[in-house]
Amino acid sequence: MKLFAATPQAIREAAAIIQKGGLVAFPTETVYGLGADALNSLAVARIFEVKNRPRFDPLIVHIADPSSITKLCSVVDSRATKLTERFWPGPLTLVLPKTQVVPDIVTAGLPSVAVRMPSHTVALELIRQARTPIAAPSANPFGYLSPTTAQHVEEQIGEKVDFILDGGKCTIGIESTIIDLTGKEPVILRPGGLAIEEIEKVIGKVTISSARWQRPLSPGQLPWHYSPRTPVKIIAGAPAEIINGKRIGLLAFKSVKEKLPYEVVEVLSPAGDLREAAANFFSCLHRLDRAGLDIIYAEPVPETGLGKAIMDRLHKAAGKRDTRQNLSKTIGD
Ligand code: TXA
Ligand code: MG
Repeated sequence: MKLFAATPQAIREAAAIIQKGGLVAFPTETVYGLGADALNSLAVARIFEVKNRPRFDPLIVHIADPSSITKLCSVVDSRATKLTERFWPGPLTLVLPKTQVVPDIVTAGLPSVAVRMPSHTVALELIRQARTPIAAPSANPFGYLSPTTAQHVEEQIGEKVDFILDGGKCTIGIESTIIDLTGKEPVILRPGGLAIEEIEKVIGKVTISSARWQRPLSPGQLPWHYSPRTPVKIIAGAPAEIINGKRIGLLAFKSVKEKLPYEVVEVLSPAGDLREAAANFFSCLHRLDRAGLDIIYAEPVPETGLGKAIMDRLHKAAGKRDTRQNLSKTIGD
């Protein structure tokens, strides 16, 4: 039994699980979330494992106090302040430039982070007691609808989470509205529980991202897709050819014993653990990208569990479309 009515005792237990790097499904006013400590990369990697998405998407970080936003976001402009004063707690998510505190896996390598303060008292109490922001996507596996009751969560991913807090049926029942405030023009990335007209009353006209919402696109084309500037080439097995005079880096899956002829080597997981590899993936790629290399060679990882999402990102970074992406976006994720 993992499903518990959200009594103060159950919330305390759930918060302790979050602090230990576990996964807790919890109610918000929009949909149930699948939560982990947002500052713990390995715990966040587990979210992707349980969601079984064939790719990494950036996650929403949930906070219990509007002032926590300054820890996570490096720029909080007057538009953001006006919106949070008017609509938080509630079904509005802001995308703002992130601080160093936010691990790269939370944002799928992006320089921005999505933040929301939910209004559900159970969610707020859980975040307060865990004393850490909680990263959470909707608590459904890839391809399923977002859960609006604890029973949905139990049926869909019950055996894979550590704890389910039952706070009854979600009152709003659709996901939060997401607004991107990283640019000059505010852009709605996802229509949701807060009407766009309400937002416009506070900050004026907003654009709705047609790229994302008017036709189904593959995630590689989404406005938030991170790609390294340095060319990436996936190499199978042995060290690839060394081109004289070129600065080459390697993104290795496991520890490499022999001395390799590369300028920089980043190891995803010394022991070859896919969860650890996923947790480190974006940070390793960022470091290689900043190293002033001519090319990054990347070793493929086994395509099981999180390996599929890692390979999806690698193929995208290498500029090759992964055909499996095409099944997404038309179904829930
Ligand atoms: O109501 C909700 O928003 C629920 C509850 C649990 O809070 N959460 C939710 O999360 O719907 P999820 O992961 O299913 O959808 C979050 C979406 C991502 O798919 C992505 O499109 C967007 O938020 N997102 C997150 N971070 C972003 C970023 N830095 N830039 C652009 N979009 C981002
Ligand atoms: Mg979702």
